[in-house]
Amino acid sequence: MRIEAGQVAVITGAASGFGREFARLGAARGLKLVLADIDAAGLATVVDEISATGADVIGERVDVSRAEEVERLAELAFAHHGRVNLLFNNAGVATGGLIWEHGLKDWEWLLGVNVWSVIHGIRSFVPRMLAQDGPGHVVSTASVAGLLSPPLLGIYNMSKHAVVALAESLYQDMRGLDRRLGVSVLCPAFVPTGIADSERNRPAELDDGAEPSESMKAFKVSFDQGVRSGRLSAGEVARITFEAIEEDRFYIVTHPKIMPSIRQRGDDIARLRNPSDPYANTETGKHA
Ligand SMILES: NC(=O)c1ccc[n+]([C@@H]2O[C@H](COP(=O)([O-])OP(=O)(O)OC[C@H]3O[C@@H](n4cnc5c(N)ncnc54)[C@H](O)[C@@H]3O)[C@@H](O)[C@H]2O)c1
Repeated sequence: MRIEAGQVAVITGAASGFGREFARLGAARGLKLVLADIDAAGLATVVDEISATGADVIGERVDVSRAEEVERLAELAFAHHGRVNLLFNNAGVATGGLIWEHGLKDWEWLLGVNVWSVIHGIRSFVPRMLAQDGPGHVVSTASVAGLLSPPLLGIYNMSKHAVVALAESLYQDMRGLDRRLGVSVLCPAFVPTGIADSERNRPAELDDGAEPSESMKAFKVSFDQGVRSGRLSAGEVARITFEAIEEDRFYIVTHPKIMPSIRQRGDDIARLRNPSDPYANTETGKHA
């Protein structure tokens, strides 16, 4: 779809990282913004920054893992603007370690924020977006970990594969409709954002207080380092994403160096070969 001033964008995870950059770029393009995040203070800072530019922006504290809160966000957006042209299902969190060492609360937290958020986003927004006049596009943020399964990232890999499958399913289900919505899935590798510090917004009831295992500590060190050393900025990821929306491109892979590993994974499946090391083909060696 063509992105034009006056269109309405809803962005989850807008207090930081990619979400904040989608919001900044959206404001620069004249979009009306409805921003959501669990971090109320961080969100208020972003809303203040963006409204100072004269943009039409509202912010709402939303825990995207909760159906009723995402439904409330949809009600708010449609009550204010009567339509939503761009939905960014973007909020997400990460943790890692040997997959069998995670407690149940780690699983609940990651699958709640990364997977249920997209399910709730689809259920609350898509029927309303299909019923409105004017164009619509849904972008869900997965990761290259939705296309590859690197070690020590088990829950995250599973959650992001689910996001890719949800987005592909949404795309396929639009086939044959008279009025379809555009659909994209964003799959970046490491980009410096707050993702390595996801624990900052973990609800207390989803923290079992257990000491991290050795594998979890090792993961944290390498994940911090990987995220910090990402060369592409979050702002560039936002720019690439807006371009893809305008070109109606489904797969948004921001780091082309990852493509040989993705091809090899596809080839492993096609040849019934056991999984290759996903790091074997990359120059930087690590990605998430
Ligand atoms: N940065 C990377 O290297 C990278 C790579 C691939 C994919 N991603 C994905 O990009 C998306 C955005 O992450 P980011 O890198 O900008 O990290 P970030 O930590 O800077 O931003 C994520 C935002 O999500 C919010 N959030 C967390 N839990 C929430 C909840 N329950 N409800 C509502 N909001 C919640 C956080 O408060 C934060 O503002 C995530 O889905 C992440 O998995 C990031």
